[in-house]
Amino acid sequence: MTRGLFILFEGCDRSGKTTQSTRLVQALNDSGIKTKLLKFPDRTTAIGKMIDGYLTQNTKLSDQAIHLMFSANRWEAMEQMQADLESGITLVVDRYAYSGVAFSAAKKLDFKWCKAPDVGLLAPDRVFFMDIHPDDAAKRAGYGEEIYERREFQIEVRVKFFTMMDKAWSIVDANKDMDEIHRQILFLTKKAIQKQEEGPAPIGRLWV
Ligand code: TMP
Repeated sequence: MTRGLFILFEGCDRSGKTTQSTRLVQALNDSGIKTKLLKFPDRTTAIGKMIDGYLTQNTKLSDQAIHLMFSANRWEAMEQMQADLESGITLVVDRYAYSGVAFSAAKKLDFKWCKAPDVGLLAPDRVFFMDIHPDDAAKRAGYGEEIYERREFQIEVRVKFFTMMDKAWSIVDANKDMDEIHRQILFLTKKAIQKQEEGPAPIGRLWV
């Protein structure tokens, strides 16, 4: 049995990650590929609840402290993620360490310092970057409800994402029709799953 794939969605706020990751999970399960959806921050854990307080109620925390909490929130999920992948379950993940680095580095924290706590996390096999200009994102429903949803800041975040891209990444034009985006992502994901079945590769680790 081949391991599951780790598929990641990244992007600025209101870029359609949640819609597309949910649709992808549904489509993969419908075609017999056992798939789970995960989301970071996972606001259900004790650490996640503190993060939620910071994002929605402006709980006071230093930039460094919240950065480390986002990272800890990923580390607490690692054991289960590894077990799932090894048992053949594909994971579709909505945000991960790249968001951690992009958002904190956009606050002017040192880039290398931002990456350090996430070194050694499981690495995604494919990353879909939902690319939207922050001016277009600002027109979408609900924009501005959380502390990072400010135009100038999102422009900085987007630039930081671009500095971290490698060959595992695909840039998706998030302004396109939702169905078209879904078809494109499903096609690329199925291709990646087929490639893994033909020539299994081990799960990588981030930034080592
Ligand atoms: P969400 O809207 O996808 O739930 O993400 C909540 C916010 O948290 C979003 O503005 C991105 C930000 N974020 C970080 O600053 N660091 C992180 O490590 C993650 C995962 C998200």
